[in-house]
Amino acid sequence: MLGKNAKLFFGVSVIILIVAIVLASWGFPKIVQKQIHKSLQIQNSSVMFEKWRELPIPLKFKVYLFNVTNAEDVNNGAKPILNEIGPYVYKEYRVKRILGYGENDTIRYMLKKTFYFDQEASGGLNENDEVTVINYSYLAALLTVLDIMPAAAVIVNNALESFFPNLTDPFMKVKVKDLLFDGIFLNCVGENSALSLVCGKIRLEKPSVMRPAEDDKGFYFSMFSHLNLTESGPYDMKRGIENINELGHIVAYNNKTTMSQWGDPYCGQINGSDSSIFPPIEGNPPAKISTFEPEICRSFFASLVGPRDIFNLSAYYYEIDEMLFASKSANPNNKCFCKRNWSANHDGCLLMGLLNINPCKNAPAIVSLPHFYLASEEILEYFDGGISPDREKHRSFVYLEATTGVVIKGVQRLQFNIELRNVPAIPELENVRTGLFPLLWIEEGAEISKNLQDELHHANKLLSYVEAVRWVILGLSIILCIASAIYVSRTGGLNPWPNRNSVNFILRPGNTIDINKIR
Ligand SMILES: *[C@@H]1O[C@H](CO)[C@@H](O)[C@H](O)[C@H]1NC(C)=O
Ligand SMILES: *[C@@H]1O[C@H](CO)[C@@H](O)[C@H](O)[C@H]1NC(C)=O
Ligand SMILES: *[C@@H]1O[C@H](CO)[C@@H](O)[C@H](O)[C@H]1NC(C)=O
Ligand SMILES: *[C@@H]1O[C@H](CO)[C@@H](O)[C@H](O)[C@H]1NC(C)=O
Ligand SMILES: *[C@@H]1O[C@H](CO)[C@@H](O)[C@H](O)[C@H]1NC(C)=O
Ligand SMILES: *[C@@H]1O[C@H](CO)[C@@H](O)[C@H](O)[C@H]1NC(C)=O
Ligand SMILES: *[C@@H]1O[C@H](CO)[C@@H](O)[C@H](O)[C@H]1NC(C)=O
Ligand SMILES: *[C@@H]1O[C@H](CO)[C@@H](O)[C@H](O)[C@H]1NC(C)=O
Ligand SMILES: *[C@@H]1O[C@H](CO)[C@@H](O)[C@H](O)[C@H]1NC(C)=O
Ligand SMILES: *[C@@H]1O[C@H](CO)[C@@H](O)[C@H](O)[C@H]1NC(C)=O
Repeated sequence: MLGKNAKLFFGVSVIILIVAIVLASWGFPKIVQKQIHKSLQIQNSSVMFEKWRELPIPLKFKVYLFNVTNAEDVNNGAKPILNEIGPYVYKEYRVKRILGYGENDTIRYMLKKTFYFDQEASGGLNENDEVTVINYSYLAALLTVLDIMPAAAVIVNNALESFFPNLTDPFMKVKVKDLLFDGIFLNCVGENSALSLVCGKIRLEKPSVMRPAEDDKGFYFSMFSHLNLTESGPYDMKRGIENINELGHIVAYNNKTTMSQWGDPYCGQINGSDSSIFPPIEGNPPAKISTFEPEICRSFFASLVGPRDIFNLSAYYYEIDEMLFASKSANPNNKCFCKRNWSANHDGCLLMGLLNINPCKNAPAIVSLPHFYLASEEILEYFDGGISPDREKHRSFVYLEATTGVVIKGVQRLQFNIELRNVPAIPELENVRTGLFPLLWIEEGAEISKNLQDELHHANKLLSYVEAVRWVILGLSIILCIASAIYVSRTGGLNPWPNRNSVNFILRPGNTIDINKIR
């Protein structure tokens, strides 16, 4: 009698053990994983949805300008000496306007950025400060016309002198505010064929940095007002419901699945997310992460450096590397980004560390990392001071939370440059040295709020409790099993392993398939 009860007790405890093993090794992690995925997927019931749609705290948009301290001398052939001024700090708000859900697990939205000057964060600097910088719109117009009809330089310059009254050199003194947002007026009214050529080209190609004046008498040139005034998109983004590993991937921008500007399917690839969202990592970090940046019509990538804690959260740290803007000899994949010559010394491609965004912006402009960080040393020889690349200050990076892939902190930095070209036929340019001249660089940075940090801490704590509970249950059932085995052997069960019962059948080696079936 006793023996029979003991056997039953033993049988039950073994079944409990099996259930515990299945739960511990498969059930619990699966349930936890499912909950995590649910909270990340883009659907209006998910935890992250609102935070994704409207960033709870604004990004910091910082601008550093290169004040030219020896403009006169540069005119006469000296090397430029620059003085970096900044940061002028703006708050950047980002709101997504949802247009709807699309085919193939996508969501469609427009992205609106709004900028406000942050006087407190800018310290002593003021939007009304005057700086001397390279006269970007003058050079852009000149280079554009020189490209269309190289022989017409002199006529063109006469035109430009009426286009730009009081033109004496390729530099300009402007208020920071006008250069960045309010705009510098360019007059298009006048009887002059070359002038109408320049204005016609602007009207036709609508470069984003040229905003038509209300009365249509000309244009306002500014670096960023188009970002503040217009929405970008539509973006079609994967919601991660069908496949969580595609969460956040942008599959189309402006109804197109590749960017046609580069005239090449590889360089036009739209890879990765809009940098606000990444698939969960769950201890398995990808070697590279990509983001798509419509402002320069291409995808960026950053490479995994390693695990690195931040704000007491475990995270993976990714940093931009030199392969991104590598010359085509260092990274043959980049050859389709080589569109035009900016210097006769080079074979149709730019030096290491540069990207010609003329095809993208319809205006001559070359981007690099700030201070030509990770770029060819040759570029630095052009300057007599004020340019000093520094990894700490000029890299771009992102920290992704180790489980969820949530962006904990990220910074993206980019510098805008234009070629200053020696043109003997043009008085303003007859003595200058040809080289790449920086105008300004920007930093867009974000980190999660203290609230979200606490939430993540809390979630991690919860996960560790779940983890503990899982092992406690397993431990208890093992103890129970051992206890019952001892009990069975003590109460006269001659053989603690009864011959033909189901438990034995399941536990017999070689029958593990059956356990799998139970799963
Ligand atoms: C949530 O999304 C569905 C479509 O999937 C939509 O019909 C519904 O109105 C949305 N609810 C809210 C509160 O936005
Ligand atoms: C820029 O440099 C000029 C001298 O070239 C100086 O007069 C001006 O104050 C500087 N601007 C700022 C904002 O420091
Ligand atoms: C959705 O996927 C199918 C099959 O991959 C494809 O044929 C279809 O064009 C896709 N739809 C959209 C809108 O991308
Ligand atoms: C951006 O646009 C808003 C209006 O949409 C305006 O209030 C704000 O001043 C603009 N920001 C800048 C920096 O010009
Ligand atoms: C050109 O210079 C003259 C005299 O220096 C000045 O009165 C005039 O306002 C300037 N014109 C422009 C458009 O800057
Ligand atoms: C620079 O360009 C502006 C227009 O963008 C023009 O009005 C100005 O005269 C130019 N400055 C100089 C010093 O040539
Ligand atoms: C993109 O496609 C949608 C419908 O699929 C259409 O309404 C919209 O006009 C298109 N936009 C552009 C820029 O082609
Ligand atoms: C886009 O992603 C694919 C697949 O990961 C990769 O092979 C390719 O190099 C990426 N393209 C660009 C332009 O970064
Ligand atoms: C990180 O955790 C340690 C101990 O758990 C604590 O002393 C410290 O204040 C925490 N730091 C932050 C930034 O939360
Ligand atoms: C770039 O310039 C060099 C020398 O002037 C020339 O040989 C080469 O063909 C040019 N490449 C392109 C793509 O225009």
